[in-house]
Amino acid sequence: MKTLHLSVILLTLSGVLAHSDWGVNYPNNPICAVRGFSVSIPCSYSYPKSKPNIQVIQMLWCSMNSNTDKCQNPPYVYNSSSITTSDFEYAGDNKSNCTLLIHNVQFSYSGEYRFRFITDVSGGMWTGEPGATLQVADLKVSLIRLSGIGTLKQGDSLNLTCDVNCTQSSSQFVWSKNNERLNTSGPVLHFPAVTVRDSGNYSCTWKTNRASGSETISLLVEGGWGVNYTTPICAVRGFSVSIPCSYSYPQHNYQVTQMLWCSMNSNTGGCHNPPYVYNSASITTSDFEYAGDDKSDCTLLIHNVQFSYSGEYRFRFITDVSSGMWTGEPGQILQVSDLKVSLIRLSGNGTLKQGDSLNLTCDVNCTQSSSQFVWSKNNERLNTSGRVLHFPAVTVRDSGNYTCTWKTNRASGSETISLLVEGENQWTIWIIVLVIAGVIFISVTGAVIYNRRFLCDCRFVHTEQQKEDDSTIYENAQQQMGSFAIYANVK
Ligand SMILES: *[C@@H]1O[C@H](CO)[C@@H](O)[C@H](O)[C@H]1NC(C)=O
Ligand SMILES: *[C@@H]1O[C@H](CO)[C@@H](O)[C@H](O)[C@H]1NC(C)=O
Ligand SMILES: *[C@@H]1O[C@H](CO)[C@@H](O)[C@H](O)[C@H]1NC(C)=O
Ligand SMILES: *[C@@H]1O[C@H](CO)[C@@H](O)[C@H](O)[C@H]1NC(C)=O
Ligand SMILES: *[C@@H]1O[C@H](CO)[C@@H](O)[C@H](O)[C@H]1NC(C)=O
Ligand SMILES: *[C@@H]1O[C@H](CO)[C@@H](O)[C@H](O)[C@H]1NC(C)=O
Ligand SMILES: *[C@@H]1O[C@H](CO)[C@@H](O)[C@H](O)[C@H]1NC(C)=O
Ligand SMILES: *[C@@H]1O[C@H](CO)[C@@H](O)[C@H](O)[C@H]1NC(C)=O
Ligand SMILES: *[C@@H]1O[C@H](CO)[C@@H](O)[C@H](O)[C@H]1NC(C)=O
Ligand SMILES: *[C@@H]1O[C@H](CO)[C@@H](O)[C@H](O)[C@H]1NC(C)=O
Ligand SMILES: *[C@@H]1O[C@H](CO)[C@@H](O)[C@H](O)[C@H]1NC(C)=O
Ligand SMILES: *[C@@H]1O[C@H](CO)[C@@H](O)[C@H](O)[C@H]1NC(C)=O
Repeated sequence: MKTLHLSVILLTLSGVLAHSDWGVNYPNNPICAVRGFSVSIPCSYSYPKSKPNIQVIQMLWCSMNSNTDKCQNPPYVYNSSSITTSDFEYAGDNKSNCTLLIHNVQFSYSGEYRFRFITDVSGGMWTGEPGATLQVADLKVSLIRLSGIGTLKQGDSLNLTCDVNCTQSSSQFVWSKNNERLNTSGPVLHFPAVTVRDSGNYSCTWKTNRASGSETISLLVEGGWGVNYTTPICAVRGFSVSIPCSYSYPQHNYQVTQMLWCSMNSNTGGCHNPPYVYNSASITTSDFEYAGDDKSDCTLLIHNVQFSYSGEYRFRFITDVSSGMWTGEPGQILQVSDLKVSLIRLSGNGTLKQGDSLNLTCDVNCTQSSSQFVWSKNNERLNTSGRVLHFPAVTVRDSGNYTCTWKTNRASGSETISLLVEGENQWTIWIIVLVIAGVIFISVTGAVIYNRRFLCDCRFVHTEQQKEDDSTIYENAQQQMGSFAIYANVK
């Protein structure tokens, strides 16, 4: 009894040892695939390496939906001896890799799959069981309205959600709009308030390292007719300003054919007639430049702004649909202001001297909330910000050209003032320079007079009596002495 028991255990043990050489490895957990897409079922197999030159002669995959047990008989989804084109593609080899690719996965493909291989050794064949489990899921993108009913309108709130009825731990969702990847991850794309620009084709791609799938949904937001301007804009005379503007219309089949900007200083009402400051149908060079497009952007740039440009501006657009045209009113308000830099003496008078105290102030007669002042000296930016540049005690080195630049996100302007500080030391230098100059001047003139006397007296020594010849001699001297003689003559 005892011996029999032992032999049974030994038999089992030897069997286990033999089995460890033969095997097929599948992933432990079910594999998730998306209907209509592909999935890869990783698989590896082994057989005794102790027997050299053992050859694998047949590789087979079977589905437990149509086969049983060890899949000793057909049907197979893959038979290496009779390869047919099907959704099941063997991506392994005849050594150790038995990876199976399944294309165009269907719900009916859900189930267990087993790999079997046959070697050239008699009785040397193996089926890996239990097999790999495949779950086929559906990928659905749905639009969940959080506000509004009927067609989608601007301002409506919604979620696009991506659902896969399969729990795969390491999967990710990638969203793209019109084939351009979006920066959001996760199964939900949230729109607190849609705009016309949100219209497009949205795709959700679900990915694991073995499968992927994607689904697209179309979003169409109807704009309604409208032009969007902003709060009054401040510009600085002589500089440029950008007037942001956007417009919308019901999108289907509408094509914008003409864009117009008019000024309420010269036009009225809905600007149905000229004059226009911009007309896309007859473009002329002027201070008014259109920086928008024929879709939704109606930004206007105005260069070299003048005080007379202050006022209201309206945008009008015309589409190819009859009576499909719109003027946005009331329009955009433009205020033109002056930028002034002034010097305010806090001490001293007359010319600026060292130690004097002063402020340079930059004034813009316009109230724009988010504007900033930037100061620079001789074109080098200073570290101060704010409207006032304060000098508690100026020095000669503070002399220079100071520029104040005023900036908003739509306009800018700048103005320069010159500061000249006279130093005490400079006066003494000037006095010394003047004294030296004076000395030099006196010496030079002295020498000239002396020279003239000396030259002329020389001649006079010999012709002292002939005073009437004086002029003749003088003329000779003139000819001989050239320019110096002329100078002497003038003296
Ligand atoms: C195994 O595959 C290699 C390359 O694919 C091939 O050359 C070889 O003949 C195959 N062996 C058998 C036994 O089919
Ligand atoms: C695989 O296909 C070949 C050719 O049709 C066939 O002879 C063989 O029996 C098949 N293998 C199995 C295990 O059924
Ligand atoms: C098995 O083959 C597949 C497909 O050719 C490949 O992606 C995979 O890396 C291979 N596995 C191993 C362990 O080499
Ligand atoms: C997912 O849902 C579909 C029906 O919509 C069903 O046929 C399929 O079996 C489900 N998949 C899983 C993994 O639950
Ligand atoms: C994407 O988002 C991250 C963080 O939310 C941000 O740092 C990055 O700049 C964004 N990239 C683009 C292209 O918007
Ligand atoms: C919509 O998405 C937001 C943000 O992801 C989420 O907080 C909210 O619960 C979602 N609402 C619905 C009804 O799905
Ligand atoms: C969205 O998809 C539809 C058809 O699927 C196509 O006609 C349309 O041009 C696409 N729109 C964009 C913006 O790609
Ligand atoms: C105008 O702008 C506001 C705020 O940016 C936005 O809510 C609205 O949808 C826009 N309207 C149009 C017609 O573009
Ligand atoms: C700023 O002052 C100038 C006169 O210096 C005036 O013409 C202009 O209208 C003023 N601008 C504003 C916005 O008050
Ligand atoms: C200039 O300043 C001095 C002292 O700082 C003062 O005595 C003088 O009256 C001032 N002159 C003028 C014109 O303000
Ligand atoms: C001069 O500038 C200082 C510092 O910015 C300021 O406190 C002072 O009020 C200014 N004085 C005048 C008269 O502008
Ligand atoms: C200051 O500006 C004047 C004329 O605007 C120019 O002649 C002078 O060279 C400038 N000074 C400096 C230091 O840039």
